[in-house]
Amino acid sequence: MNDQAEALRHLVHSQDSQEAKTTRVLTVTSGKGGVGKSNFTLNFAMALQKRGYSVLVFDADVSFANIDVLLGTPAKYNLLHLLKGEKTIWEIIQVGPDNLQYIAGGSGFQDLVRLSEQELEYFAAQIGKLNGHFDFILFDTGAGLSKETVRFITAAEETIVVTTPEPTSITDAYALIKMLKSMGHDISFRLVVNRVTDDKEGKQTADNIRQVADKYLGLQLPVLGFIPDDANVSKAVKKQTALSVAYPDTAAVRGIDRIAANFLMEQQETGGMTNFFQRIKKLWG
Ligand SMILES: Nc1ncnc2c1ncn2[C@@H]1O[C@H](COP(=O)(O)OP(=O)(O)O)[C@@H](O)[C@H]1O
Ligand SMILES: [Mg+2]
Repeated sequence: MNDQAEALRHLVHSQDSQEAKTTRVLTVTSGKGGVGKSNFTLNFAMALQKRGYSVLVFDADVSFANIDVLLGTPAKYNLLHLLKGEKTIWEIIQVGPDNLQYIAGGSGFQDLVRLSEQELEYFAAQIGKLNGHFDFILFDTGAGLSKETVRFITAAEETIVVTTPEPTSITDAYALIKMLKSMGHDISFRLVVNRVTDDKEGKQTADNIRQVADKYLGLQLPVLGFIPDDANVSKAVKKQTALSVAYPDTAAVRGIDRIAANFLMEQQETGGMTNFFQRIKKLWG
């Protein structure tokens, strides 16, 4: 009780001292690994930023945190420093190219499960301070459903599921959605199909998953859009430069930009960060 009251005071305080923004928290996830979540998250964040929104990318991949590697800007501090109580949330926010703000993962999440009540309290209260400071916080999660990933996904309420047109990626995406649904969580899912040959293939893939989700789970699965398979993605990764910086006019960037436009058009009313914060406390407490 005490903890919660304290956490709420933090929250209220941070709202008082800030121009109130409604911070919308999303996770980006997938069933199968290597489908392009991290590249999508980064470049989607940059696309939103270009449209005038403030965005924070949070690397929440338990096993393969690599946002800073993709950006080519080694993080001075990462999540681990926050978990150990050595740094504040503001001190671990790094600034990448195009002023993209991000929190690098490090290997901090293994430690998350071992946090004491006091450390946990610090972590939750620090995360709560982000409320009102950003328009969007994007959590780039690992593939599949580790305990931590589930907590972030369910706390955030909104998740973008990335898949490719490959059958293995599609079935894994479906399995992930089904599992989350069976846990009784009320999450809004949206689909992004990455690495499509053309829009037709993207649409077919999306229709496939949507029909199965509708028929067997009674779940609506809106599609945010498609991203073409684009050799420049891999080139940018090898150069350790964000795709939108290295190849601003390439097909994949244009695809992600269309997705950002769709996404902003569909802005649904959500509880914003307040809800997220209360849920994440509950889930970790
Ligand atoms: N649209 C795309 N076109 C071509 N290759 C892509 C595309 N998206 C991702 N890739 C390839 O897939 C690899 C994995 O992407 P990444 O974002 O790290 O996946 P995840 O975060 O899901 O593990 C990239 O390094 C790149 O080579
Ligand atoms: Mg990744």
